[in-house]
Amino acid sequence: MIKAAITAVAGNLPENVMTNDDLAKFVDTSDEWIQTRTGIRERRIENDLSKATSDVAVPAVLELCRKRGISPEEIDLLICGTVTPDMVFPSTANLICAKIGAKNAWSYDISAACSGFMFALCTGAQFIETGRYKKVVIVGVDLMSRIIDYSDRTTCVIFGDGGGCVLLEPTTENAGIMDFILHADGNGATHLHMKAGGSRFPASHDTVDKKMHFVYQEGQAVFKHAVYSMAEVSAKIMERNNLKSEDISWLVPHQANKRIVDGTANRMGVGPEKVMMNIERYGNTTAGTIPLLLWDYEKQLKKGDNIIISAFGGGFTWGSVWVKWAYDGSQSGK
Ligand code: UT7
Repeated sequence: MIKAAITAVAGNLPENVMTNDDLAKFVDTSDEWIQTRTGIRERRIENDLSKATSDVAVPAVLELCRKRGISPEEIDLLICGTVTPDMVFPSTANLICAKIGAKNAWSYDISAACSGFMFALCTGAQFIETGRYKKVVIVGVDLMSRIIDYSDRTTCVIFGDGGGCVLLEPTTENAGIMDFILHADGNGATHLHMKAGGSRFPASHDTVDKKMHFVYQEGQAVFKHAVYSMAEVSAKIMERNNLKSEDISWLVPHQANKRIVDGTANRMGVGPEKVMMNIERYGNTTAGTIPLLLWDYEKQLKKGDNIIISAFGGGFTWGSVWVKWAYDGSQSGK
């Protein structure tokens, strides 16, 4: 039976660092509040306005190809999870492919907010498992700074810019995407959304004046749903695959808030030494968090490691993926 194995990982972040103290210069907050309530110390912000989301993704996809020793022309399909596309259309995935010369690939975006990379990963895996494709690139990337109101302290402190990608290839070994449980509930839209810019509220002077092109988030409501749902779905994927906490090598959790991650790890019985974390340096990069974690921790990943990817985000969307790691990260060409 063919499985979809992750065979390479890459990432990219804007160079500009915005610390909590930088934020406190223009919004009523403090380093102490942000670190205690979220775990974030700093985040990256793309302050070059000539750069869009595809520009942040392109170096990552090129690095991915270089590490795996393949040409962009070998890519069959590229799927990009993002809620900050360069434009409403064409898709950011199309633009990435054009920029890297992936002329034999077809491509499209998936809009699932913080679960975007995870949804794209599970979608892309199907094309490998059926035997149709040999090389599928999954990107998760967001420039959240472009849709954040930097006078709203309840949202601006948690988000950052960046993203990453993985390559999926077929394997007949016992490795790759082993199982997934994904959910979506559009009733969550009331708690987390961006009102304008779509067909309900097309851009107008009024929508701009009313700040309707920024992220609207009811933090506490989202927090409660996230803690419960991420923990439940992660426990469920372990139960239905008879995975005990000692079988898990790594939890790879979406980086929205350290307290949400702690709740998920506790429910799974997984100690902090097995939890990938980089929220303190990058904040919440929405679809970017999970590939950025895999990129940061790649060297520590070993062939056969059981990893549980888990995310919750706007939609609401949430779920967990069980991945058996397919190669020794210490041997990768980063
Ligand atoms: O990425 C996926 C989707 N998003 C999430 O998963 C995010 C989920 N939510 C959260 O992470 C948290 O709700 C936040 C970090 C957004 C907010 O933390 P909280 O502990 O839920 O704070 P809160 O909204 O309950 O506010 C507590 C207090 C309030 O003051 P009062 O009314 O008690 O006087 C807020 O006004 O903290 C105040 N506050 C702040 N103070 C300093 C809110 N934001 C800030 C801030 N700095 N940045």
